[in-house]
Amino acid sequence: MASAMSKPRRLHGKVALITGAASGIGKETARLFVANGAFVVVADIDDKLGQKVVASIGIDQASFHHCDVRDEKQVEETVNYTVEKHSRLDILFSNAGITDPVISSILTLDMSNFDNVMATNVHGVVATIKHAGRVMVERKIRGSIICTASIAAVIAGTPPLAYTSSKHAVLGVMRSSCGELGAHGIRVNCVSPHAVATPLTCRAFGLEESEVEEIVCSSASLKGVVLKTSHIADAVLFLASDESAYISGQNLVVDGGFTVVKSVM
Ligand SMILES: NC(=O)c1ccc[n+]([C@@H]2O[C@H](COP(=O)([O-])OP(=O)(O)OC[C@H]3O[C@@H](n4cnc5c(N)ncnc54)[C@H](O)[C@@H]3O)[C@@H](O)[C@H]2O)c1
Repeated sequence: MASAMSKPRRLHGKVALITGAASGIGKETARLFVANGAFVVVADIDDKLGQKVVASIGIDQASFHHCDVRDEKQVEETVNYTVEKHSRLDILFSNAGITDPVISSILTLDMSNFDNVMATNVHGVVATIKHAGRVMVERKIRGSIICTASIAAVIAGTPPLAYTSSKHAVLGVMRSSCGELGAHGIRVNCVSPHAVATPLTCRAFGLEESEVEEIVCSSASLKGVVLKTSHIADAVLFLASDESAYISGQNLVVDGGFTVVKSVM
């Protein structure tokens, strides 16, 4: 019988940079990557939470670097830090993201809120791919880049306008860079979760974790499973590992069938 000790370490010796890793999906993925043998740079604007994550997953395998993904200089410095520390960069999980501070009609939309969401969710993803891609190409590393999109990248409706627009754009960024970086053996994919009970969702909807989970359970066509950040981290691990060696340009939707089934009853 396989024991926990004999579990395969699917990212053995690889170096990963994760943005937005101080909380939610990024934090869970950092944990899973480390458990699978990777060295992880936890990058976030929240220094206190980021350092807490590193302390909890182990300073031998993880370190924190402050990074505001809206600022290209900080992104460049974070990528350079990663390479100086570990001599390589195999995996970028470009995950930092925010949502609209208020749900508003397009007729009354505050454009500065719109710009801030786009700056984090789109500019941030482009900047991280630009600099991680540069390092991978220079060092001839056949890396894997994964971006966090959302079900709001494929449908519109419930999520707010700026968020939906930004996540649609993330798919375009992923597809466009997949073409160019593919020539260097670098894969680029997205993961698109349904709503999962993280601080981002609970804050946005003013709901408790259990309330978010209840709403998601009732909307997904797959019953009997409660979506957790670990399900998304599992999908990211697959895309980061050699198990997905020939998968590039894809959007792996983790939504229990929500976006593909429209009930007529
Ligand atoms: N939670 C969901 O329901 C859900 C669903 C689909 C997609 N997503 C996406 O998943 C990603 C992670 O979200 P989460 O739910 O884990 O949220 P979260 O709020 O728990 O974590 C997001 C992290 O990003 C960091 N961050 C915010 N702005 C940043 C910036 N400018 N630079 C660097 N770091 C920054 C925050 O400090 C935080 O640690 C986001 O891109 C989000 O859009 C979330």
